[in-house]
Amino acid sequence: MANKTLFMLLLSHIILCFSIVFSNLDASLAEDGAPHFVHVCDPARFEMLGLDMDEFAYCDKSLPHHVRAKDLLDRMTLVEKADQMGHGTSVGIPRIGLPPYNWWSEALHGVSNTGPGTHFDSVVPGATSFPTVILTAAAFNQTLWKTIGKVVSTEARAMYNLGRAGLTFWSPNINVVRDPRWGRTLETPGEDPFVVGLYAVNYVRGLQDIEGQDNTSDPNSRPLKVSACCKHFAAYDVENYLGLDRLHFNAKVAEQDMIETFNLPFEMCVKDGDVSSVMCSYNRVNNIPTCADSYLLKKLVREDWNLHGYIVSDCDSIAEIVKSHKWLDDSWEDATAHVLKAGLYLYHLILMRMDLDCGDSYKYLPSAVSQGKVGEADMDKSLNHLYVVLMRLGFFDGIPALASLGKKDICSEENIELAAEAARQGIVLLKNDNETLPLDATEINNLALIGPHANATDAMIGNYAGIPCKIISPLEGFSAIGEEGVSGFAGVNYQMGCAEMKCQNDSMINSAVQAAKKADATLLFVGLDLSIEAEWVDKEDLLLPGYQTQLVTEVAEASKGPVILVIMSATAVDISLAKINPKIKSILWAGYPGEQGGRAIADVVFGNYNPGGRLPLTWYEASYVDNLPMTSMALRPVGDYPGRTYKFFNGSTVYPFGYGLSYTNFTYERKSEEMSIDIKLNRLQHCHNLTYLDENYQQDCPSVSIDDLPCEDEIEFDITVQNAGQRDGSDVLMVYSIPPKEINGTHIKQLVGFERVYLKAKESKKVNFGLNACQSLNIVDVSGYRLLASGLHKIVVGDTALQIPVQVNYNR
Ligand SMILES: *[C@@H]1O[C@H](CO)[C@@H](O)[C@H](O)[C@H]1NC(C)=O
Ligand SMILES: *[C@@H]1O[C@H](CO)[C@@H](O)[C@H](O)[C@H]1NC(C)=O
Ligand SMILES: *[C@@H]1O[C@H](CO)[C@@H](O)[C@H](O)[C@H]1NC(C)=O
Ligand SMILES: *[C@@H]1O[C@H](CO)[C@@H](O)[C@H](O)[C@H]1NC(C)=O
Ligand SMILES: *[C@@H]1O[C@H](CO)[C@@H](O)[C@H](O)[C@H]1NC(C)=O
Ligand SMILES: *[C@@H]1O[C@H](CO)[C@@H](O)[C@H](O)[C@H]1NC(C)=O
Ligand SMILES: *[C@@H]1O[C@H](CO)[C@@H](O)[C@H](O)[C@H]1NC(C)=O
Ligand SMILES: *[C@@H]1O[C@H](CO)[C@@H](O)[C@H](O)[C@H]1NC(C)=O
Ligand SMILES: *[C@@H]1O[C@H](CO)[C@@H](O)[C@H](O)[C@H]1NC(C)=O
Repeated sequence: MANKTLFMLLLSHIILCFSIVFSNLDASLAEDGAPHFVHVCDPARFEMLGLDMDEFAYCDKSLPHHVRAKDLLDRMTLVEKADQMGHGTSVGIPRIGLPPYNWWSEALHGVSNTGPGTHFDSVVPGATSFPTVILTAAAFNQTLWKTIGKVVSTEARAMYNLGRAGLTFWSPNINVVRDPRWGRTLETPGEDPFVVGLYAVNYVRGLQDIEGQDNTSDPNSRPLKVSACCKHFAAYDVENYLGLDRLHFNAKVAEQDMIETFNLPFEMCVKDGDVSSVMCSYNRVNNIPTCADSYLLKKLVREDWNLHGYIVSDCDSIAEIVKSHKWLDDSWEDATAHVLKAGLYLYHLILMRMDLDCGDSYKYLPSAVSQGKVGEADMDKSLNHLYVVLMRLGFFDGIPALASLGKKDICSEENIELAAEAARQGIVLLKNDNETLPLDATEINNLALIGPHANATDAMIGNYAGIPCKIISPLEGFSAIGEEGVSGFAGVNYQMGCAEMKCQNDSMINSAVQAAKKADATLLFVGLDLSIEAEWVDKEDLLLPGYQTQLVTEVAEASKGPVILVIMSATAVDISLAKINPKIKSILWAGYPGEQGGRAIADVVFGNYNPGGRLPLTWYEASYVDNLPMTSMALRPVGDYPGRTYKFFNGSTVYPFGYGLSYTNFTYERKSEEMSIDIKLNRLQHCHNLTYLDENYQQDCPSVSIDDLPCEDEIEFDITVQNAGQRDGSDVLMVYSIPPKEINGTHIKQLVGFERVYLKAKESKKVNFGLNACQSLNIVDVSGYRLLASGLHKIVVGDTALQIPVQVNYNR
């Protein structure tokens, strides 16, 4: 009895020690803000647990990661193994020195408190909240994308050191925006798969890479600052369309669209970004739930793209395979077994790897094993993937170079400044009649700030946000101009115009009209928020909600001074009326601009910053969606359905993809010379036929698969860009390729390169582009081949007449 009591006491002491060292929920630990976290393989920790660390080979740094991981998992019982495979069911195994770990943290545009792995409190009250990704994407600046990733991972790692965050962040969201109604557009870099892929690579490298250690020969031991996750694989972009939700949606996707559009960003993220995790999505693709699809997960992600990391389910998606998809009439044990060993029915010998369940469905694994539905050895492989990632993160050994990160690195002035800079770089100028913008603050006594977003705060940080360091609303941002002591500035008159974003009546419009009547200039802040576009919430139309359009029209009509319309939204809104309204001189799109949004918008309006952002989405006319169900996945026009995105939609738009003005003008120049690529084929390189629009058109060898070509041809050229106007500013050179016009069924054009450049007034600069012919000129045909076609291709810069013809010839 006495022995037992002693034992219990000892046990509770051990558990207490244990939770002191490892609980990342105990605020008392680091009130001074000093780093406190101790890594797993610390001899003192083992001693406290009554263990000798030397007996645990998994703590032996001289062994390779996968050997250490195997040693660790070999010490676990079947039930313990299953526990480690749920995001939050890993409660730790004191017997073998293993602490608990919660896998679910998020860092979409700053460290977020969505997910139980991360939290804010008095020690870390907030983290820098960058603009939502759709606005950051509009900057078309890869350096910015990577820099934000670096700053976010610095803050994340600092929070981990302080016991406030995990090390595994399930960001970014890199689904291509296929439809202008999609509720999660704000989380993504837009509609172009190449831009989305480049964003993913830069953000992931910013999050994961540790400078100087980013080039180890063994990618499975390359250290990670934090672990990123590209999600949601694949073909996911329906939340809830007329009652059909994402848990029940079966995306019917042609292989051509899969390769060309939906998979491309993921391929780039894994191959070029070397991301350490991929998340599968809620929907089905061609009948199979993606989390149970061994072709997608095992064949593509693991084998073809060679993922170094783990695959995780979207939250509770295993449960949804049973509850919502009712896939193959699964029982719980069956669903669990299928996911671990997906498609056993379909591809007998192919095992897939969904290594971690966001949820607790893997608690059924032990019974699935005992019923012979899945092998324990499969679980071991998954656990190995998981622990190798934690080893690379320094969870077991620490990473000295990152140990000193702490409170001073979170919400620093520099980081907050970068959030403002990102918003300024992203903001898009859509209209600017008579050079109304920038406003001259010295000439304005009376500024009216009108609209449901004029005092936007939380709306600016969107979803998957954390607690921001400090929000600056437009009202504060513009009031600050007055406080700067601009002579004559009498301050702002603020009127909401609508009670909320849905703007269900006109009761507040009159006082807005009165304010505009007296103002020297009127700023109108309208748009959308999470009540209209969000996770689970797709839009039904492309209009401004409720009475917002009436607010805009009536205020414009009554205004004494020029009217500047500022739109906060992720998806396109049809603002054709404002576009043609002569009283609305200027229009700005500000996405959801993050915690410094109000300041950034004021900087642009008053000319402290010359806008240079470009739309990462096509702004369709409202009628676009009337006859096109959101559930149609095809990118190309089908029957009466129009094509989707700038690559396949050939109708009129409110503003096209890539559109954006400046307060100055840029001109492009290039020595005109035609280029040609002549490829001599050997007897193993075969030609593929193409269908041509004109049946009389012929090529001896229409095309060759790029997998069969050496792909050494580079298309190199310089563009001289000049700032022809009176103000300093930045321009984005957007380079597209256009396939030979005779080919049927291909894209209209595709973006193949872009470069943001800053030029002083009158300055000019040479910008060099080196495009690989295979990568930049290829087309994907219906059978899924990537082909380099013979014929006359064109490279064009922006929407200018500057075109570079590139003739491709094959001969034997
Ligand atoms: C990384 O290593 C490869 C091969 O060792 C080398 O070619 C490359 O230049 C290195 N890159 C960097 C950034 O050091
Ligand atoms: C620009 O200003 C001129 C002179 O004030 C006016 O005639 C013209 O209509 C204006 N143009 C636009 C597009 O507002
Ligand atoms: C602006 O919004 C903030 C935060 O919601 C609120 O505290 C403040 O009172 C608002 N300002 C005005 C003038 O309504
Ligand atoms: C207008 O809408 C707001 C918010 O929905 C509501 O509080 C208010 O009572 C409505 N006013 C009228 C006159 O219907
Ligand atoms: C840009 O060029 C156009 C056409 O030459 C001219 O009308 C416009 O005033 C210029 N804008 C600026 C900001 O220089
Ligand atoms: C390609 O088209 C030519 C001409 O129509 C035809 O003779 C040839 O058989 C086709 N080749 C293949 C591989 O289908
Ligand atoms: C072009 O492709 C479309 C879609 O596959 C097809 O309907 C059409 O008949 C083709 N046109 C020609 C000229 O082959
Ligand atoms: C776009 O449509 C127009 C008119 O329907 C047509 O003339 C033009 O060839 C089309 N352009 C492309 C690139 O398909
Ligand atoms: C791109 O972003 C980086 C990082 O914020 C910045 O230093 C640079 O000036 C930007 N480039 C341009 C042309 O705006």
